[in-house]
Amino acid sequence: MMKYNIVILLLWSFFAASVKLEAQAWSLSEVEIQAKLKLLNKPAVKTIKSKDGDIIDCVSIYKQPAFDHPTLKNHKIQKIPTFFQESQYSSEKHAFKENIEVVQTWQKSGNCPNGTVPIRRILKNDLLRAASLDHHFGLKPPPLFVNSTNTNFSESSSSFTVISENHSGVHIQSTSGSGYIGAQGDINTWNPKVQLAGDSTTAQMWLKSGNGFDFESIEAGWTVNPTLYGNNDTRLFSYWTKDSYKSTGCYDLTCSGFVQTSNVITLGAALIHVSTDSGPQTGFTVKIFLDELGHWWLNVANYNTSIVIGYWPVELFASLQHSASVVQWGGQVISSQLKHRTPHTKTEMGSGHLADGGYGHSCFINSLRVKDYSQMLKYPESTTVAAQEPNCYNFFNDVKDGQEPAFYFGGPGPSCV
Ligand SMILES: *[C@@H]1O[C@H](CO)[C@@H](O)[C@H](O)[C@H]1NC(C)=O
Ligand SMILES: *[C@@H]1O[C@H](CO)[C@@H](O)[C@H](O)[C@H]1NC(C)=O
Ligand SMILES: *[C@@H]1O[C@H](CO)[C@@H](O)[C@H](O)[C@H]1NC(C)=O
Ligand SMILES: *[C@@H]1O[C@H](CO)[C@@H](O)[C@H](O)[C@H]1NC(C)=O
Ligand SMILES: *[C@@H]1O[C@H](CO)[C@@H](O)[C@H](O)[C@H]1NC(C)=O
Ligand SMILES: *[C@@H]1O[C@H](CO)[C@@H](O)[C@H](O)[C@H]1NC(C)=O
Repeated sequence: MMKYNIVILLLWSFFAASVKLEAQAWSLSEVEIQAKLKLLNKPAVKTIKSKDGDIIDCVSIYKQPAFDHPTLKNHKIQKIPTFFQESQYSSEKHAFKENIEVVQTWQKSGNCPNGTVPIRRILKNDLLRAASLDHHFGLKPPPLFVNSTNTNFSESSSSFTVISENHSGVHIQSTSGSGYIGAQGDINTWNPKVQLAGDSTTAQMWLKSGNGFDFESIEAGWTVNPTLYGNNDTRLFSYWTKDSYKSTGCYDLTCSGFVQTSNVITLGAALIHVSTDSGPQTGFTVKIFLDELGHWWLNVANYNTSIVIGYWPVELFASLQHSASVVQWGGQVISSQLKHRTPHTKTEMGSGHLADGGYGHSCFINSLRVKDYSQMLKYPESTTVAAQEPNCYNFFNDVKDGQEPAFYFGGPGPSCV
């Protein structure tokens, strides 16, 4: 067992190094940039200029980036999931006292016709920003698994010890022996500050399968990520990887893979409403469910309507084809100034408040639900909670008599040493 771990660790270092080289290699000529943009952006049927500077291309649903993926050349697009479960949700009451909504800035400037999907156009500056920081465009920086004798990075879970240099996470996790075929949660929306170039912060849900060093993950929630998107707005995002963030997958539709079906929601576009301290609280429900064909569908809930955004096709994955072994809800800060590096980044997680502030001050995710082969949507039976830097970003799972727990998390960043 020990030997196995060591071999994996060496491979990791190798992959991390090769990705870095690739990033440097394409921070090159104008010709290369234009070629990359042409590959990434598909011809638009209609173009919408959003007031926040984003350009939204309405692209034919059949010409979206997904179909560039080698395993999806002959993929038959699904327009709706092969399950219908809305009845399960409509009677659910949500804990938000105010709005559950996904209203995006660009929607004020137009809409995409039926048969097209709205895609955020990638601009030259987006590529340049990523390249100047040695980031591979559209990818979370690959984690480097390190074993340190003087630091306790353990994320507590048996199967997912993602110990990584430049990531700091807080999450509540549900692990199942038999596997999950769906999960959801109501995510409170905020606009935390991001301090350093290259930093980002999220509040999100993960569904993972595999083991601690070699896993597949599909993710969605909100993020502030100025390196990727060019400003500090709070945006709806999705993410996937089939090799533990090494080289496959990406945010939103910045690479081929995710198949979008919605003509109203844009992955990576800004959300208009965020919560304010002591003020109105807003948020949305994120849902990810497996259908009979093995596709993982991403939905967001707007008031009492569930909007289907699209799906990660079965062809993308190996271990996630039938179920996920772990579901996590929480936040993640990515920065080069974490853990033992001082000064610690001031990039905030959640609302920027530690978890003890309660409703209206700290960010929360509640109405956690998982679905297993029993087909029942239920609060996870057993959960574990973990924070990698509990003095910087912490958690509080608020369990009150007769009520379902609310999971609070976050922090301002620099309060730890
Ligand atoms: C890293 O640490 C863990 C826990 O202490 C141990 O099980 C594992 O073998 C170590 N891996 C390496 C490569 O030293
Ligand atoms: C687009 O599709 C929706 C749902 O199928 C339908 O209600 C609407 O009338 C269609 N709009 C147009 C312009 O065809
Ligand atoms: C590591 O952190 C966990 C959770 O904070 C704690 O329970 C455990 O005792 C720590 N282990 C060590 C070796 O410090
Ligand atoms: C994002 O916020 C940081 C810190 O508050 C600020 O320094 C930076 O200029 C902002 N970036 C943009 C693009 O507005
Ligand atoms: C959604 O909520 C609104 C306002 O509470 C209500 O009028 C409407 O009937 C609901 N729609 C459904 C499909 O439940
Ligand atoms: C983490 O950040 C440091 C400092 O910027 C950088 O040198 C290192 O390569 C990063 N590690 C990974 C795995 O990206």
